[in-house]
Amino acid sequence: MIVAIDGPSGSGKSSIAHAIADRFGLTFLDTGAMYRSVAAECLRMGVDPEDAEAVAGVARDIAIEFGASEDGQTVTANGRDVTAEIRTPKVELAVSPVSANPAVREVMVGLQRKVGKAGDVVAEGRDIGTVVFPAADVKVFLTASPEARARRRAVQRSGGNLAQDSAATADPEEERRILADLKRRDDYDSSRATSPLRPAEDAVIIDSSDMGFEDVVAKIASLSPALA
Ligand code: C5P
Repeated sequence: MIVAIDGPSGSGKSSIAHAIADRFGLTFLDTGAMYRSVAAECLRMGVDPEDAEAVAGVARDIAIEFGASEDGQTVTANGRDVTAEIRTPKVELAVSPVSANPAVREVMVGLQRKVGKAGDVVAEGRDIGTVVFPAADVKVFLTASPEARARRRAVQRSGGNLAQDSAATADPEEERRILADLKRRDDYDSSRATSPLRPAEDAVIIDSSDMGFEDVVAKIASLSPALA
């Protein structure tokens, strides 16, 4: 059983995929965290994210492991806990050129398919339904307006939870910065030559701008009898 959830930054893919994994006993695979881990390791090693050859070397050698903690998922890269670091603005700037690198994508897609071979998976990213698992049982393209996505991420970063409190707000300045960064990454991800962000032809497109968290989970669950 493979559930593929693609979509732009901040569309809620992670929280939704987590919920689907928990409720239906699937392994959660955050592919964005993998590209972020490569970017973090490049920065630590002093490798220029635009240096395609050197970045490909970092990707080929990297060991990425996912774990669990009380606060959610943990990520280690080459034995180092990078859970918090991969969410920093520095890594967010570096991850676009890193993930546009075809050699990096080849290595990451190989690792992701291994996880898919080993068991039932809900994977989230940009190219899951188009490239990584084109035969996925369920394919969703989850999107929302840039403003709705920026608000969700800003609230999440300030410790709020829109799934529990739909009126939660965040610092407007932080929300503006996040909106600018989301748009920059969306443009980069949509216009790159290798695996650009786009819905698979057979994906179900869900615009969650005006949908609650539970409605999105229910909609995805309704797409396969295996998720009943
Ligand atoms: O989903 P998340 O925001 O964590 O992804 C970080 C970055 O990794 C994205 O901006 C995108 O450039 C890249 N990415 C990708 N393909 C994926 C997942 C993420 O190119 N499957």
